Amino acid sequence: MMCEARRTMNASATMTADDGLPGGAGADGWPPPSPHSMPTTEQEREVTRPAGQRPPLSGPEPIGPPHPDIEEHLPSQPSEPAAQPSPDAVLIRRTLSAIEPIADKVASYFYALLFVRHPELRSLFPPAMDAQRDRLLKALLTAAEHIDNTAVLVDYLQRLGRGHRKYGTLPEHYPAVGESLIGTLDKFAASVWNDDTEAAWVRAYTTISQVMIDAAAADEVHSPPWWMAEIVEHELRTPEVAVLTLRTDQPYPFLAGQYAMLETPWWPRVWRHYSFASAPRADGLLSFHVKAIPAGWVSNALVNHARPGDVIRLGPPTGFMTVDHTTDSGLLCLGGGTGIAPIKALLEDVAEHGVRRPVEVFYGARTNVDLYDIDTLLRMQQRHSWLDVRPVVDRDGRLQLPGVIREYGPWNEYEAYLSGPPGMIRSGVNALRAVGVPSEHIRHDSVEELVAAGY
Ligand SMILES: Cc1cc2nc3c(=O)[nH]c(=O)nc-3n(C[C@H](O)[C@H](O)[C@H](O)COP(=O)(O)OP(=O)(O)OC[C@H]3O[C@@H](n4cnc5c(N)ncnc54)[C@H](O)[C@@H]3O)c2cc1C
Ligand code: HEM
Repeated sequence: MMCEARRTMNASATMTADDGLPGGAGADGWPPPSPHSMPTTEQEREVTRPAGQRPPLSGPEPIGPPHPDIEEHLPSQPSEPAAQPSPDAVLIRRTLSAIEPIADKVASYFYALLFVRHPELRSLFPPAMDAQRDRLLKALLTAAEHIDNTAVLVDYLQRLGRGHRKYGTLPEHYPAVGESLIGTLDKFAASVWNDDTEAAWVRAYTTISQVMIDAAAADEVHSPPWWMAEIVEHELRTPEVAVLTLRTDQPYPFLAGQYAMLETPWWPRVWRHYSFASAPRADGLLSFHVKAIPAGWVSNALVNHARPGDVIRLGPPTGFMTVDHTTDSGLLCLGGGTGIAPIKALLEDVAEHGVRRPVEVFYGARTNVDLYDIDTLLRMQQRHSWLDVRPVVDRDGRLQLPGVIREYGPWNEYEAYLSGPPGMIRSGVNALRAVGVPSEHIRHDSVEELVAAGY
C-alpha cells in the first residue's frame, strides 16, 4: 500500500561544489526544474513512499581503464576513498543490501509507480521494458552506492546527463523519478527505512540528478540532442553482417574507438550501441558494422531492412577506447566479430597521425566466413609497415583469440585494446594480466553494457 509523506529536506549533499558538483551545504530536496541552479533553501515537497526492485549490483570483476560503466569500474578506482564511507553512504548501502534479494520486484515496482503517477513519461521509454533493459534504476542505485567516489561519479553522470537529451528528458522529469525511487525503497527496504535513511537517499538523488541536469544544460549550448543520419550505402558482407555508411545532417564530432547509441525508424525509442568503424573522415561520413542477432530488434532492422535513403537518429559519441597520441608505445588490438569495427577505426587514426608505432592486430572469428573485414585489414597491412594483422579462427567451437596473446609478445611496452563479445574481453583481459600487462594499459568498452545487450 502506498502512503504519502510530507517531509522537509534540509541536509547537505555528500559532494561539494569544490568537486565540480552541485550540492554541499544547502543542497536540499528534489532537483528543481531549473537547469542551472541548486536549491539553497529548505523546501518541502510531496514524496510518495512505496517501492520497486534492484537488479544485482555485483558485476564482473572490474577491469580496464577509464570506462563508461561505473559499476564495473568504480571499485578499482585509485580515487576510491580509502577512508570510512560517509554516514549517507552507510545508510544507502544498508538499503541496497535489504533490496538485493528482491531486485526484480523492486525494478517492476519502480517503473510501475513511475508510469502510474506520471503517465506522460511512458512515451519517452521503449514499448517493451523488460528486466534486461532496466538500466535506469540500476545506474541510479549504483551511483548512490558510490556517492563518496566523486571524481568518477561526476564524469559518468555528466555523460549520462548529456546522453539523456536524446530521450527527451527534461529537468522537470527528474523529481518524478526521484519520487518513484524513494517510494520504491520505502516499500521494499522497510526493515531499514527511517527518516535518516530517506534523507540520505534524497540528498544522493538530488546530487546525482543535478549533475545530470547541469551537464545536459551545458551541452545544449553547443550540441544538438541527437543527429539525423541518412544511410548512403548498405553493403551486406555476409548474410548476417552489414556495413552501413551514413551522412549526418550536422557535423558529428567523435574520436576513433568511440561508439554511439542509435534509433531506427522501425523501432522508435529503442536505442542500441554501435561502434564507429572508421576514424573521422574528411567527407564527414560515418560507418558501422552491424551483425544481425537472432530475434534482435534493431540489428535485424539494420541488416535486413535498412536501405540507402533511410534515416536514423544518432546519439552523442562516448567511450574511452581511444588512442593516446601523447605516447608512441605500440598498440595490441584484439577484435572479435564486429568488434573489429572500432579496431579498424583505431588503425586509421594511427595512420593519420603519421607516427610510426608498432600495431599488432589479432582478428578473431568463429569461421573464415565470419572474418568479413579481413581484406580491408590486409590491404592496410600492405600499406603500413608498422602494422601486422593476424586472423584467428576458433577451433572446435573454442575461442582462440585470447590464447594467442601468450604465443606472441612481449606486450609490456604496448597499450592493449579489446573489442568484441564479453567473454572474449574477459578472457583477453585475464590473459593480458597474466603476461604482466598492467590494467591501466588495457582498454575496452563496458563489458556490462555488452552483457546487457546480449552481444
Ligand atoms: C559499447 C557497445 C558497442 C557495440 N558495438 C556494436 C557494433 O559495432 N556492431 C554490432 O553489431 N553490435 C554492437 N553492439 C551490440 C548492439 O548494441 C546490440 O546489442 C545488438 O545489435 C543487438 O541489438 P538488437 O536490438 O538487435 O537485439 P535485442 O532485441 O536487444 O536482443 C538481443 C538478444 O537478447 C535477446 N533478448 C531480447 N530481449 C529478451 C528478453 N526479454 N528475454 C530474453 N532474451 C531477450 C534476443 O533474442 C537477442 O538474442 C555493441 C554494444 C555495446 C554495449
Ligand atoms: C538520476 C537520474 C537518472 C539516472 C541515473 C538515469 C540512468 C539511465 C541509464 C544508465 C540509462 C541507460 C541508457 C543510457 O546510458 O543512456 C537510462 C535510460 C533512459 N532513461 Fe534515464 N536516468 C535518470 C533519469 C531519467 C529521467 C528523469 C528520465 C525521464 C523520465 C529518464 C529517461 C530515460 C529513458 C527514456 C531511457 C531509455 C530507456 C531504454 O533505452 O530502455 N531517465 N537512464
